[in-house]
Amino acid sequence: MKAYVLRSYGSPDELQLTDVATPVPGPGEVLVRVRATSVQPWDWHHMRGEPYLSRLMPGSLGLREPKITILGADVAGEVAAVGEGVTEFAPGDEVFAMPPEGGGFGEYVCIAERLLAPKPKSLSFEQAAAVPLAAGTALLAVRDAGRVEPGRRVLINGASGGVGTFAVQLAKAYGAHVTAVCGARNADLVRSLGADEVIDYKKEDFTRGAERYDVLLYLAGNRSFAECRRVLTRKGVCVLVGAAAGRWVQPMGRMMGTLAAAAFTSQKAVLADVVGYPDSRGNLLELTAFIEDGTLRPVIDRVYPFEDLRAAVRYQEEGHAPGKVVVTV
Ligand SMILES: NC(=O)c1ccc[n+]([C@@H]2O[C@H](COP(=O)([O-])OP(=O)(O)OC[C@H]3O[C@@H](n4cnc5c(N)ncnc54)[C@H](OP(=O)(O)O)[C@@H]3O)[C@@H](O)[C@H]2O)c1
Repeated sequence: MKAYVLRSYGSPDELQLTDVATPVPGPGEVLVRVRATSVQPWDWHHMRGEPYLSRLMPGSLGLREPKITILGADVAGEVAAVGEGVTEFAPGDEVFAMPPEGGGFGEYVCIAERLLAPKPKSLSFEQAAAVPLAAGTALLAVRDAGRVEPGRRVLINGASGGVGTFAVQLAKAYGAHVTAVCGARNADLVRSLGADEVIDYKKEDFTRGAERYDVLLYLAGNRSFAECRRVLTRKGVCVLVGAAAGRWVQPMGRMMGTLAAAAFTSQKAVLADVVGYPDSRGNLLELTAFIEDGTLRPVIDRVYPFEDLRAAVRYQEEGHAPGKVVVTV
């Protein structure tokens, strides 16, 4: 099969299109013919081996060389074969998943049966590939970490990106009043997704406003907890998803610093981490229900063909894609 293989850390040029052996599904595994994948910060953090701090953390990046050689943490495709003991899927089934060890940047990938879910019927492969990691993250942030309920006032900083476009829709679905922080060119987009108020981060500092929020979803930028808590209610919660990236420690430094600072206040800071989440199929099924009843839709900025995958990574890494960047495989 063809796959983009990452042999050493570096720029998208390190993703080499190569012929490699098609994987064989082991017990409990399903071989999926990938039809589409999507690109996100997860890919270029693993591609560059940054932040360096992550290389020292168990279960994260490899110390000197990439631990994951075929990236792509979102997959939509068709079942090609099943391993021993697989009962829920058969060849030809259309599925989607978030394989934590990647594989979407190749034509075939083996995925544990327990991680797979049927592809939402109303979505194309391209649309379905936009969902698992970004929408799964948004769901954890809104439902679990933020415990969003009707009437809650929620601010989403970074509302126009891959995670943010799902988070706006989910926060509305859970009954919140949503303030979206994004660039001016994406104001109409986030309004069309349900945002009640929009703040242009280039014109207005959301941490200096008069409004108070029960939940602040922190996806982008470089604001300290001391700044964010000014606009949180007394028992408000700051949900940490991401922040501006750096070579050595960010965004982890920003997130750890926030967790430490919040330990001394009545306001809380909570991490939303989809990669370590144990029930990713449960998330996919819940997201499918939202998609099928028309509550949730993926916003896709660009779709690239497989031969232009490196350009897709380059574009996503610029950090200003409104919605998701998808690659057909
Ligand atoms: N914890 C997890 O499990 C998990 C999972 C997925 C993602 N993440 C992290 O979450 C973050 C967002 O991911 P993503 O996939 O949504 O990234 P993305 O698609 O690249 O989104 C970036 C968005 O951030 C906006 N932005 C940039 N600078 C901003 C600022 N100063 N203030 C407000 N908005 C700003 C951009 O809007 P403009 O174009 O308008 O500038 C863009 O729409 C990343 O840090 C990622 O690593 C974490």
